[in-house]
Amino acid sequence: MRDAENVTVRLADYQPPTYSIDDIALVFSLDADATLVAARSQVRRRGEAVAPLALDGKRLDLQSISIDGVVLDGSAYSVDPEKLIIHAPPANFRLELVTRISPAANTALEGLYMSSNRFCTQCEAEGFRAITYFLDRPDVLARYAVRIEADKANYPTLLSNGNLTESGDMEGGRHYAIWVDPHPKPSYLFALCAGKYESIHDQFATKSGRNVALGIYVDPGDGERARYAMDSLKRAMKWDEDTFKREYDLDLFNIVAVRDFNFGAMENKGLNVFNSSLILADAETATDADFEAIEAVVGHEYFHNWTGNRITCRDWFQLCLKEGLTVFREQEFCADQRSRPVQRIKDVKRLRARQFGEDAGPLAHPVRPSSYQKIDNFYTATVYEKGGEVIRMLKRIVGEDAFARGMQLYFERRDGTASTVEDFIACFAESSGQDLSQFMRWYEQAGTPAVKSRGRYDEKTGLYELTVSQHIAPTPGQAKKTPPPIPLWLSFIAKDGARIAAKLEGDTISRIEHHLVLVNEETTFRFNDVLEAPIPALLHSFSAPVTLDDGLSIEERLAQMAHDPDPFTRWEAGQAIAREIMLSDAKAHAPALAIALGRELDRAQEDPAFAALALRLPDLNELILASPSPDPEKLHAARESLRKTIAAAHRVRLEAIAGAPGELPFSPSADAAGRRALKSAALDLLASLGAEAAGVFSDAYQNATSMTEAAAALDALGQSNSEAFDDALEQFYQRWRENPLVIDKWFAVQAASPRRDALARVRRLREHPDFNIRNPNRVRALAASFAMRNPRAFHAADGSGYRFLADLAQAIDPLNPALAARLLTPFESWKRFDEQRQQHAKSALEQLKALPELSKNTREVVERTLA
Ligand code: PHE
Ligand code: ZN
Repeated sequence: MRDAENVTVRLADYQPPTYSIDDIALVFSLDADATLVAARSQVRRRGEAVAPLALDGKRLDLQSISIDGVVLDGSAYSVDPEKLIIHAPPANFRLELVTRISPAANTALEGLYMSSNRFCTQCEAEGFRAITYFLDRPDVLARYAVRIEADKANYPTLLSNGNLTESGDMEGGRHYAIWVDPHPKPSYLFALCAGKYESIHDQFATKSGRNVALGIYVDPGDGERARYAMDSLKRAMKWDEDTFKREYDLDLFNIVAVRDFNFGAMENKGLNVFNSSLILADAETATDADFEAIEAVVGHEYFHNWTGNRITCRDWFQLCLKEGLTVFREQEFCADQRSRPVQRIKDVKRLRARQFGEDAGPLAHPVRPSSYQKIDNFYTATVYEKGGEVIRMLKRIVGEDAFARGMQLYFERRDGTASTVEDFIACFAESSGQDLSQFMRWYEQAGTPAVKSRGRYDEKTGLYELTVSQHIAPTPGQAKKTPPPIPLWLSFIAKDGARIAAKLEGDTISRIEHHLVLVNEETTFRFNDVLEAPIPALLHSFSAPVTLDDGLSIEERLAQMAHDPDPFTRWEAGQAIAREIMLSDAKAHAPALAIALGRELDRAQEDPAFAALALRLPDLNELILASPSPDPEKLHAARESLRKTIAAAHRVRLEAIAGAPGELPFSPSADAAGRRALKSAALDLLASLGAEAAGVFSDAYQNATSMTEAAAALDALGQSNSEAFDDALEQFYQRWRENPLVIDKWFAVQAASPRRDALARVRRLREHPDFNIRNPNRVRALAASFAMRNPRAFHAADGSGYRFLADLAQAIDPLNPALAARLLTPFESWKRFDEQRQQHAKSALEQLKALPELSKNTREVVERTLA
């Protein structure tokens, strides 16, 4: 079936709904092949004049329709699988619909579908319309009452949003449960799960003394692996009370883990649904990164209860209103749970790896886009990660107190509403007394600002002039940009590391830290009473999501690495030196960087997690993005050569770290994870020495006492060209073949291995009996690992990597359009490469574009990427 023509939806065209639905009662008669959904809605016209009611649908089969108990005459409505239009309904009426759907045939994983014989829903963004005809838009808020009926033996647990009010047996071995959610919500937050689960339970006493029953539902046998998620949930609940004064508002909170899920997790009211990969963890099967991600995402989805659910989005253009804000809250939660500087560096790395490339390519869009074809394609790094950075800048610009007051104002004023970014920003304009209209540019303009700074010091007068400018390159549809306000958190050190105070022109006292905002295209900041030549650091804690050309010398950066008071700046100085060496062939500086990193090793015991980050050089994708005419082979060689210099300089120490015995008993704490991170970073650096260091990796693999160590050793073997890689892979497979999440890692480590035979490997893996095109985790383990973590192979000069990805997306598209479209994002960099690569990328994309049956999702991504 061919999708209808792609239609562009525009923010400027927003119209409030003509009807409201205040209450809906749903009855699900569950059956894998034919589920009947009876929906009884109380509908109210908002305007005076008679108007047609147009309800959204998707793949629906209407069985019956009545208004106020009277079956509707065929002439009173028109219906197709995508729309139900009632031509002239009364002003206030009860609409009763019965639709039939087939969860077993639903491979798109949107709406009601089956995953390992259990029922599950995914309604964000527009999945509810695949369940029943409805006003499927976020500004229609209704109270839901849900009755679920199903075979009791096969589906003993029946879950939906809100509170369980009744349950019991029915005839024919069936049973039922009734769930009532007292909080009005948009349809995208509806959820239903039914099946056989193992569950773990706990409780949380809120600050006002209410008891909330917590449950996590997983596959039978996995219960113990959900303990860390439960622990994270309780910490998140406490944190939101302490930090944002937000209390949970139902008597129960449930999480269900599913094996087949298009994203990470979903914040449905009172019933979060999670990808199993973000719930299940133990020492043997999960890495520290997995534990961290579980903590972060459990927190994220929980925090949505206030930022997303109680205050939701007026329309999908406002997606960042809930996502950017919730990413910010999640990052703050993680920073408080672990190490704030380490968390910040990791968040910056993620932003650079995922968002900067997006902002620089054909898919660039503002944090709040102004048009889309398929909203599923806008769950992007820009909306999420840059959206989080925008909140962080807002906090910096209005100050902590006004930020805290603005948040409380937002929670109070907007509770129960479907809001806009303007509604949100208005709270901070009010709490701070500042005019924030220029700040809106962060929401409206795509592209990463390039900031340039140059300083001039006059020894005689003690005057230091710092000229800072900003520029945003054109992005699709936005040729001209206006400068957004860029918060600079600035301080100075001297060559010997001493902090230097300075008096900003117009200020009365000298300060060692300056909170400035660059509001113009160019500004010269004048500092007086500067006693020595200063080395400026402009972006403490990465105070704005920009690129910075500060023109510092290697010597100045080395001083920052050793002495700057800000950990982010120390880390960034090392990264900047490494970038310069790799990008401009400044090899002469490699030994100096090696010595400086040796100092990080010296003090690694103080903060091993930080040292681990310092030891990892900017990855190949970052170099490709920073290079005007990237040659992946050359950049890879430059990177390996620098890594080799560093590894050779510290080989003995690195081997000692890599060979240290694992800590038992295992602890997932930030400290223990930091020590393991250092070990992994040591292995990673040693991998640059090639097969000659393979003994270290094989030993590390054999002696691993945690998945973190095993995975790091396997990864090093994968980089080292040693034959021991295949032996270790075989062992790993035999040991873990029954555990899908671990087998995902097995696929991923091979797809990411930068060996010459990478493409042959991924081709073989695609034919492997454990590869499953219907399981998003498995698909991503193969395809996203290859295209995102193995840029040399993906960008192979003969175009083979591009063809592999396009072929796979083509095979997935008819089954799961959202997944297929998302897989193609690595093509966003194609225009940066040489003519030959561009030709190959273009023809791979055009092969997709030519398919008449291509989904709307994939077509939108392909066309925008090609444009
Ligand atoms: N809203 C989810 C989140 O917390 C993401 C998501 C979007 C999940 C769409 C499923 C479908 O970020
Ligand atoms: Zn979210």
